[in-house]
Amino acid sequence: MNAIEVKNLTKRFKSVTAVDSISFDVKNGECFALIGPNGAGKSTTIKMLATLILPNSGEIRIMGHELSHEKRAVRAQIGLASENVILYERLTALENLLFFAGLYHMPKNLAMQRAEELLKLVEMWRWRNKTIDTFSSGMKKRINIIRALIHYPKIVLFDEPTLALDPQTSLIVRNLIKRINDKGTTVILTTHLMKEVENLADRIAIMKSGKILIISTLEELKTNFDNKMKKITLKLEYDLPIESVRGIFGVLENVKKVSKNSDLLEISYTSSDTLEEIIRTITEKHLPVKSFNTYTPTLEEIFIKLTGHKPQ
Ligand SMILES: Nc1ncnc2c1ncn2[C@@H]1O[C@H](COP(=O)(O)OP(=O)(O)OP(=O)(O)O)[C@@H](O)[C@H]1O
Ligand SMILES: [Mg+2]
Repeated sequence: MNAIEVKNLTKRFKSVTAVDSISFDVKNGECFALIGPNGAGKSTTIKMLATLILPNSGEIRIMGHELSHEKRAVRAQIGLASENVILYERLTALENLLFFAGLYHMPKNLAMQRAEELLKLVEMWRWRNKTIDTFSSGMKKRINIIRALIHYPKIVLFDEPTLALDPQTSLIVRNLIKRINDKGTTVILTTHLMKEVENLADRIAIMKSGKILIISTLEELKTNFDNKMKKITLKLEYDLPIESVRGIFGVLENVKKVSKNSDLLEISYTSSDTLEEIIRTITEKHLPVKSFNTYTPTLEEIFIKLTGHKPQ
């Protein structure tokens, strides 16, 4: 079963169409990343899924329930770790967690057990009895994230969970996301960190100007992107003039460009068979190859190509 089904979802703020008729499904247990430049509509989408704002049109089904009809049933299944820290400053970390568990009518001993487990997972157990106002922003953010998990939600929405965190705390948060996802929780994640997406996401949706440009696995994205232009770089034992290199490789079918960057030769081509031909030619001509690399695009390069923006 799909955990989430979204159909033709649209949200307008006055003249701005923040989310423009998007459709996607998220499978049960999947980690689904929503990426895109600033203002793409990621947070607006997350807020609609979390029932914080109402769409203008479209449908959202969560675990089979139509969201607009069954808000209450759906809310208990969802956890939202948003950009904003929502905690009581004068309460301790533990009191905050127990307070939010109370909102979900969790039995006290179960809430206590879950709070302990989560505090330990984000390395905050020893700070449990300190009030939030004494915490650094990274510590607050960790508590804010586990607050969203206290009621064992089946789906967790993370909106830029590692924004402005130091590398070590980011790692703790990433490990937490990985762990709950591995245990079967469905995760939707927005982030500007492509490494995070590469490490965590099963599938990726790239958004721009309220629309989804593509939904795909990382592998598919790379292969499809790669299909359009492939590249091999070669280093030879001795220098060859570019004209000679062009004479050798430029004549092969589907070779589009041969260039030289100091001692590195770059051959761009468009068909998988060409790689075989290039290698055959190297052998036939007895070219002394010192090293060679085929090129795989990074998610960052794909992002830039598709959106026209850097991922920040
Ligand atoms: N409450 C609001 N009122 C008016 N406009 C809004 C509101 N919330 C979002 N917008 C607009 O909707 C568009 C999408 O915003 P959104 O916050 O969803 O983008 P985002 O993809 O999360 O961007 P970022 O990467 O910067 O977090 C933007 O043009 C934004 O200015
Ligand atoms: Mg956002």
